[in-house]
Amino acid sequence: METQNNFKTLTCEQVYNIWISEPELIRILDLRPRLEFEQRHIPGAHHVTPENLFTELQSLNGRLAILVTGDKSEEALLSNFKDHNEFIFMQDCQRWFETNKPLTGTAVAHQNPSPQDWKEPMATDIIFYQLFESESSTYTYLIADKTSKEAALIDPVLTTVDRDLKLVQELGLRLMYVLDTHVHADHITGAGEIRKRTQAKTGVSLDAGVNCVDIPLEDGQELTLGNKKIKVLATPGHTNTCLSFYFEGMVFTGDTLLIRGTGRTDFQQGSSERLYESVHNKLFTLPDDTQVYPGHDYRGQTHSTIELEKRHNPRLGGGKTKDDFNKIMAELKLDNPKKIHEAVPANLACGTQPGASSLHAQIVDGISEISCEELLKHLGKVRIIDVRRPEEFNNELGHVPTSELITLGPELTNFLEKGDRSEEIVFTCRSGGRSGQATAESIRLGYKKTINLAGGMIRWNELKQVIERN
Ligand SMILES: [Fe+2]
Repeated sequence: METQNNFKTLTCEQVYNIWISEPELIRILDLRPRLEFEQRHIPGAHHVTPENLFTELQSLNGRLAILVTGDKSEEALLSNFKDHNEFIFMQDCQRWFETNKPLTGTAVAHQNPSPQDWKEPMATDIIFYQLFESESSTYTYLIADKTSKEAALIDPVLTTVDRDLKLVQELGLRLMYVLDTHVHADHITGAGEIRKRTQAKTGVSLDAGVNCVDIPLEDGQELTLGNKKIKVLATPGHTNTCLSFYFEGMVFTGDTLLIRGTGRTDFQQGSSERLYESVHNKLFTLPDDTQVYPGHDYRGQTHSTIELEKRHNPRLGGGKTKDDFNKIMAELKLDNPKKIHEAVPANLACGTQPGASSLHAQIVDGISEISCEELLKHLGKVRIIDVRRPEEFNNELGHVPTSELITLGPELTNFLEKGDRSEEIVFTCRSGGRSGQATAESIRLGYKKTINLAGGMIRWNELKQVIERN
């Protein structure tokens, strides 16, 4: 590894080789002016300013930061960071732009709008796979932009995460998003597990009550894959927070619109009226040749089109009125899905199974205690309560992602008195003192699985773990 201006460097080709083969090991931070970044940048790169670089370096989670600079002036600004070894400069960044390596950005989008590409996107510049999980007859979709290699998974199932991620890796894709059309009742989502194993962000409806989601989604929102967009369509009815996703002439309809059918509307705040309106006002207004890819199929069918469903869907196509549809749905007498009591709570926690955290705690002075390293392995699977004062929760130490603020004193006591004594909770504070008191109090009140986080936020920050600040 060469040094230049006392900084470690890798060549453009070395960075490209890591980027293409082991993207999860690196985080590319682009220090060029924002306008230049927006025009064209390496897919997956993040724009940073020298001022916020320090914060970025605290969120690396063991990855190596590769810094992209435009000229020497940005490097000069970084002299304060000379002693840090979490980052490496990419030497001669210009070569990336000159040697036809993958790029994304507004200027890239404008460079190649050949009319042919618009007519036949599937044949030319997207990657698409329909995957099937047989126990719940669920379809999972992998979509990607071929140029930038940015990808998204829609409705992955926990039990088939290994298969899905292997395909992503084999295709050399960079997974950006894991999206759920809704809080499923028949299977556990793979979203949380995939987030743990990649850099992908999870997305589900803003109103679904999934606190651990990275991107709460709203109607009309757009997510970028290279120079393409996934458009979010709110299509409530099967549940009150169902979404569909539109991408390049395809619509992923979850359980809103199935092939010659619809999802049920009799639980999870479902409504046959709303489902009818969602299909007629949102999905049936898409172009007739839009390909329809549903969340399930139980009869071996793979896809349909908006036109076919408008004409032949026996529940709400072929001129069926809302009253017809309401009557049909009211007369369906369906059993609850076998997994509903397991799946819904797990999916509200991004697909982690209740009680599955299996934290390795030590007993210190009569109370259970875990290290920050141990908690990190179980982030997202266990409830974390920060017992500091509100002003401390967002101070320079920040707070552990997914943690909730319930201040030690009357507020915490009140919470514990009403709570479930069998719940597993990790308490944290600044250094471990107040959270130790909180753990002791919870034990006094009959809690069986409460644990103190040793060293608190001071230790968490020393280890350079990810923090959040509101
Ligand atoms: Fe569903």
